[in-house]
Amino acid sequence: MKVLITGASGQVGRALIASRAAAIELLALTRGELDIGDWTAVRDAVRAFRPDLIINAAAYTAVDAAESDQQRAYAVNAQGPRNLAECARAISACRLLHISTDYVFDGRASEPYRPSDATNPLSTYGRTKLQGEQAVLELLPQRSAVIRTAWVYAPQGKNFVLTMLRLMRERGAVSVVTDQIGSPTAASSVANVLWHLAALADRTGIFHWTDAGVVSRYDFARAIAADAVALGLLSTLPQVVPMTTVDGATAAHRPKYGALDLQASIQQLQLAPIPWRTSLHAALSELGAAPPQSV
Ligand SMILES: NC(=O)c1ccc[n+]([C@@H]2O[C@H](COP(=O)([O-])OP(=O)(O)OC[C@H]3O[C@@H](n4cnc5c(N)ncnc54)[C@H](OP(=O)(O)O)[C@@H]3O)[C@@H](O)[C@H]2O)c1
Repeated sequence: MKVLITGASGQVGRALIASRAAAIELLALTRGELDIGDWTAVRDAVRAFRPDLIINAAAYTAVDAAESDQQRAYAVNAQGPRNLAECARAISACRLLHISTDYVFDGRASEPYRPSDATNPLSTYGRTKLQGEQAVLELLPQRSAVIRTAWVYAPQGKNFVLTMLRLMRERGAVSVVTDQIGSPTAASSVANVLWHLAALADRTGIFHWTDAGVVSRYDFARAIAADAVALGLLSTLPQVVPMTTVDGATAAHRPKYGALDLQASIQQLQLAPIPWRTSLHAALSELGAAPPQSV
């Protein structure tokens, strides 16, 4: 199977490359090699490689910066997937797997969101991501799947885990919100579900996939601190101070509750999610060998 991956240097892009099966003929392109917002570039890349499958791991993920950079967020998160879907449509049987986010929801729910639940994004990032998933499903309904995930981290990249580790090391204490609830998810888990879906050509539509378990950012930070000390990444246990979200403290509004209901995906994919603590421990263990990048 010929697979084109976009956003190859991102967290999920790297995890996809690292976990690919030997039988996959891979073309993995970074932003510098393929800007998915550039229709002509996408058309030329797809025409030249003629993939059986495109996995779009590219996105504008700077949630706060997107508020003052709406055009670029739209170009990458909405127009990019549209370009990919249009170009995939021109290649016989070419499928598209696209990644989206819990930020398409407003977070006012009190139980995990199902794929069919009403969306209502609070931010430019969430809005443009929603436009992207809608474009993919409209243009390529029989040959696409959208995988919504949340709170993605990896041993490299810009993410909550590495930011917490840096702040804990520098300051010895961090204040973390107790009122943002979600499911921490390793990029490797997202890659795993994508490769699983790659082998299931008849699965289309929206899938929810995260690591198993629902926690607050505060509890997530406490787990990072505990594991980091146990693994020798931090010499002393840092203080994790609970706080509540201060409205207006960040440029973008974030959903307070972003748990995704995985049941339909578990059944349709016959796949079991990994407990988030297991994934966190694995990612931090990987860091044990090499110190975290500064983010
Ligand atoms: N990170 C999260 O917490 C999270 C949560 C829910 C869903 N998701 C979704 O998961 C997917 C993967 O995210 P991630 O965590 O791997 O993000 P990431 O680490 O920020 O990676 C995104 C990649 O996209 C690239 N990119 C940006 N603009 C591009 C363009 N115009 N053309 C091609 N590539 C472009 C970036 O390149 P540069 O680095 O060179 O800019 C980066 O390598 C995205 O769809 C994201 O929306 C992420």
